[in-house]
Amino acid sequence: MGLLNLGLLTLASFATCQFTDISLEPTIFESTILPQHENGTLLPRYFASVGNGHISTTVNTDTVYLNGLYNGERGESHRARIPSRNNIRAYPPTDEGSVTERLFGLNVAEGFFYEKYNVKGYTVEHRTFAHRYFTRVIMSMFLLKATASADPAGVTIAFESNPGDPSADITFQPEMPFESNHTLGAVSQCGETRIREDVNYPQSTGVCVVHDTLPISVTLTPSSNLTLYYLASYDFTLEEAGSDFNDALKYAFDDGGGDLFVLHSAAWRSVWTDGKIEVDGNLELSKIINGCLYYILSALPVSTVPNIVQRQFYGLSPGGLAYGDYLMDYQGHSFWDTETWMFPSILYLYPRAAEQMLNYRLSVIAAARDLANQTGYAGARYPWEGAVTGREVTPDCCVDTRELQIHITADIAYAVRQYIATTRDMNWLRQTKPGYIANGCTMIREMAEFYTTRAEFNTTTRLHDINGVMPPDEDNRPVNNNPYTNIGAGYSIFFAKYAECLCAGDMTQVPQAWVDLASSIKLLYDEELDYHPEFEGYVLGTPIKQADVALIGFPQQYEMAASTRRNDLTIYENATRPDGPAMTWAMHTIGFLDLNDVTKAAELFDKSFRNYIREPFKVWTEAQPPTLGAINFITGMGGFLQGVISGYGGYRLHPEKIVFQRPRVPPNSEELRIKGLDYLSNSFDLTVRNTSFTLTMVRSNINFPLNVEHDGVIYPFQENGVSLGFGTTQFTSVSMYTIRQTNCPLPLDKIGTPLP
Ligand SMILES: *[C@@H]1O[C@H](CO)[C@@H](O)[C@H](O)[C@H]1NC(C)=O
Ligand SMILES: *[C@@H]1O[C@H](CO)[C@@H](O)[C@H](O)[C@H]1NC(C)=O
Ligand SMILES: *[C@@H]1O[C@H](CO)[C@@H](O)[C@H](O)[C@H]1NC(C)=O
Ligand SMILES: *[C@@H]1O[C@H](CO)[C@@H](O)[C@H](O)[C@H]1NC(C)=O
Ligand SMILES: *[C@@H]1O[C@H](CO)[C@@H](O)[C@H](O)[C@H]1NC(C)=O
Ligand SMILES: *[C@@H]1O[C@H](CO)[C@@H](O)[C@H](O)[C@H]1NC(C)=O
Ligand SMILES: *[C@@H]1O[C@H](CO)[C@@H](O)[C@H](O)[C@H]1NC(C)=O
Repeated sequence: MGLLNLGLLTLASFATCQFTDISLEPTIFESTILPQHENGTLLPRYFASVGNGHISTTVNTDTVYLNGLYNGERGESHRARIPSRNNIRAYPPTDEGSVTERLFGLNVAEGFFYEKYNVKGYTVEHRTFAHRYFTRVIMSMFLLKATASADPAGVTIAFESNPGDPSADITFQPEMPFESNHTLGAVSQCGETRIREDVNYPQSTGVCVVHDTLPISVTLTPSSNLTLYYLASYDFTLEEAGSDFNDALKYAFDDGGGDLFVLHSAAWRSVWTDGKIEVDGNLELSKIINGCLYYILSALPVSTVPNIVQRQFYGLSPGGLAYGDYLMDYQGHSFWDTETWMFPSILYLYPRAAEQMLNYRLSVIAAARDLANQTGYAGARYPWEGAVTGREVTPDCCVDTRELQIHITADIAYAVRQYIATTRDMNWLRQTKPGYIANGCTMIREMAEFYTTRAEFNTTTRLHDINGVMPPDEDNRPVNNNPYTNIGAGYSIFFAKYAECLCAGDMTQVPQAWVDLASSIKLLYDEELDYHPEFEGYVLGTPIKQADVALIGFPQQYEMAASTRRNDLTIYENATRPDGPAMTWAMHTIGFLDLNDVTKAAELFDKSFRNYIREPFKVWTEAQPPTLGAINFITGMGGFLQGVISGYGGYRLHPEKIVFQRPRVPPNSEELRIKGLDYLSNSFDLTVRNTSFTLTMVRSNINFPLNVEHDGVIYPFQENGVSLGFGTTQFTSVSMYTIRQTNCPLPLDKIGTPLP
């Protein structure tokens, strides 16, 4: 890893506050103080968090959240606060001497937070991590060592646990002793959330915590070299929480004494081996990318460990798993953010985790069917906000959002289409998993069916209108015929027809009338100005909240003339309000790269992250200061990562191929490497340099042999280790596909044709 001066300079120049990241490692974010105001008041919302998709906590706070544990009815439903048993301080009493060389750090390569200091010649390191193998366990670990200059009189380190106030969300029973063969004095405590989201749907309401007792203090002497572990295990039942607690201790103390930290950090390293993004020559960018992937992965059950228990996943919320309190950070709900913003990068690098994201939607299809029916439509209509049951949980603040923002079902359908293109996972399509009431084929058809009943035939135009919607631009509603919504609806139906063929007998037939309907959904286009109006009657210059029409260029990849694309980008860039979220600028970056306007792309790429990141732990806010919005905004991270992978990396997924569209090195960088891209069970790396790029096969799959095609020449891409290099010109485009294509006709991709 070449740490160039260039990177250092970049790092220093964005040091606007005193708690700057001082580490020169791309995977370590380190500071001498925790985020705080100038007057010393701490800013816990900018602290780092640790998580594994099952549990998560923002370190040095009193709260732990558990995947799928919510409290509150309907719009009140929010993540239920479990008092943290891992909010521990380990300090010398004040009269024992002062602490020096203090450092706080987040190591994203190995997934742990640390605090280190020196007192009277003794070093203390306190690590906190959500275990990646024993996933119910959050560990606190203390490394206590005498150095050569250790004070012979010794030093006492006192421990203090701060679980905070009793939870307002959970009624806990008194603590009970927990019998374990591996430790003495363990304690369990169980409780129930107070209020169900909706009594008509199943929901886990129990929660149990099993934890060690903390020593009051430990006295170190010049010969001391101690490692102390403290474990707390969290799950819905005592049996589940207790099993990981015991298994972890058994691993550490029986069977020859395994190292729980090594097991954990190896699991994280193997996640990074599975997929990662490296940038040479730009330390700042490298750190930001690592931070984005780290925080999204901390909220996901991604694992490379075979046989690890996979529990039901309950959605990826804009604040991740470490945020989501009542009236804060979208309360832990899932929105279109999940599928449109976070899903694609996860799919390209970690398709098994992407499957878990889709399984969440599949597992709550009963509620989506009910929502369609209750609002007068057929099929499955996903709620604008979903939590544990999948029923609509948008708070009453936002009636329009709840009733009108119907593009979310199409966003989910588009995510499924990308998942099938990437994996061709026939089991996901055709098998109904235990405990589920539908398979993927059924879900795809029902999402399409919803739009067939939502669209209205217009006898004058002989087109189908989709009226009265709220588009991604939430500032303008209700509106008619929003291009993003209409294309999404059309794609959902076209995809259902394609999937019908893949599903063979496992999907009820998709009537040709649906496909005709989809083809005749109206697409607004202004011939004079050569652009797509955002809705019927859009007046040029009307301010918009965020990327909307820009999304039909990417991610929808709707075919259009370059001039139209350029007009859509410039018109709406001008109209976007300055305090909108980050994702807009990543989509515009991709658009300008397509148009070979690298200067404009670089300007907007910078805008897609610069003002949204809080140092030193690279926590994202939804909006720029002074409005901050939700934290830790992994939606913005998802958009930004698409700017890296699909923008600079040029990665464009289609139903039957990937196109690498003129990959480029990001601004101020020497080389971009996207490692562990997964396509049809093959795994390969993409390396991008200024004038060339290389595809290297790492793990090929005989079931889906790949070819790569450039300028009409076909290159086999089927042997491990084979590398294909391409010189880049402005318009270099290379495609990758399997020689085992399906016999199914590809989904149609055009709307706006009037019915005869
Ligand atoms: C410290 O500053 C912040 C921001 O200006 C302010 O909100 C807070 O009340 C201050 N705290 C103290 C103890 O003065
Ligand atoms: C504890 O040890 C006893 C005796 O070896 C064994 O029978 C029991 O199953 C163990 N319990 C657990 C929870 O491991
Ligand atoms: C302290 O203990 C660790 C782990 O047992 C060992 O690797 C290390 O060498 C020891 N250090 C000293 C200074 O004894
Ligand atoms: C809603 O479900 C009921 C009961 O199955 C059915 O009779 C009714 O037709 C459905 N409504 C719509 C709009 O599909
Ligand atoms: C049919 O489309 C025309 C042209 O957009 C529009 O003026 C009219 O209101 C539409 N009719 C209905 C019933 O929505
Ligand atoms: C940008 O918006 C302003 C009004 O907000 C308008 O006057 C101007 O014509 C717009 N420019 C472009 C290129 O659309
Ligand atoms: C590659 O291109 C970037 C951006 O144009 C530039 O900053 C960098 O110096 C170039 N690097 C090399 C090795 O040519």
